[in-house]
Amino acid sequence: MWDRDSGIMFAADLPDRDSAFSILDEVADQVDVIKFNYPLILREGINLLGETKKRYGRPVFADFKVADVPVTNNRIIKLCEEEGVDAVMLHGFIGVEALRRAKKVADKLGLFLVTQLTSPGGADFFEPHWKKFAELAVVMELEGVQAPGNRPQVVKQVREIVGDELVIVSCGIGAQGGKYGGAIAAGADFEIIGRDIYRADSPGDKVESIRREIKPHLNN
Ligand code: XMP
Repeated sequence: MWDRDSGIMFAADLPDRDSAFSILDEVADQVDVIKFNYPLILREGINLLGETKKRYGRPVFADFKVADVPVTNNRIIKLCEEEGVDAVMLHGFIGVEALRRAKKVADKLGLFLVTQLTSPGGADFFEPHWKKFAELAVVMELEGVQAPGNRPQVVKQVREIVGDELVIVSCGIGAQGGKYGGAIAAGADFEIIGRDIYRADSPGDKVESIRREIKPHLNN
């Protein structure tokens, strides 16, 4: 779906537009995809997505974990599409009908499903269902899934379920304990990394060193 060079999807979870652009100016060339989350977009507005895409020419991923009724889900998807966003994350528990309707309105962007959250309690409710969410993404012919990079054995099983066609993005790398390159070695396409990069003294140098650690795993 996206060209892979570093294997890094940068989570631009900065507090405001200026600090986000200040870090992105340093690292955007070194990462494959730029990911946004709610806090920054709630503060600055959805225009930031389109602005980022124009400024850096990188794919933009909206990690909004959409989980509402179809009419609302689809408005969020459409707003993202107007901004030129490349993919939006949804929760699978919205159900087949909601996903079918989301797919109908998603003309130009890809839809991803969460399999299980990386946080310590993330498995509490997802544990009995995460395989079903991976299967659902296949059945619904979505673009990809998220899988927890701090649990490489789960990433491996998700890859077995979704095959080669779907993209796997893995969070939980670095700050949440996952090793650089560990999720890609287990079958992920991109590793989502935020805090380890934007909290470093030199984000540019940090991203360089992460790239070096991931590189040996890229073509395995
Ligand atoms: P850090 O700072 O932990 O940033 O490198 C990770 C980014 O990914 C998001 N995140 C998740 N996204 N499933 C997801 O789809 C998860 O389990 C998950 N855990 C963290 C997080 O919000 C941040 O943007």
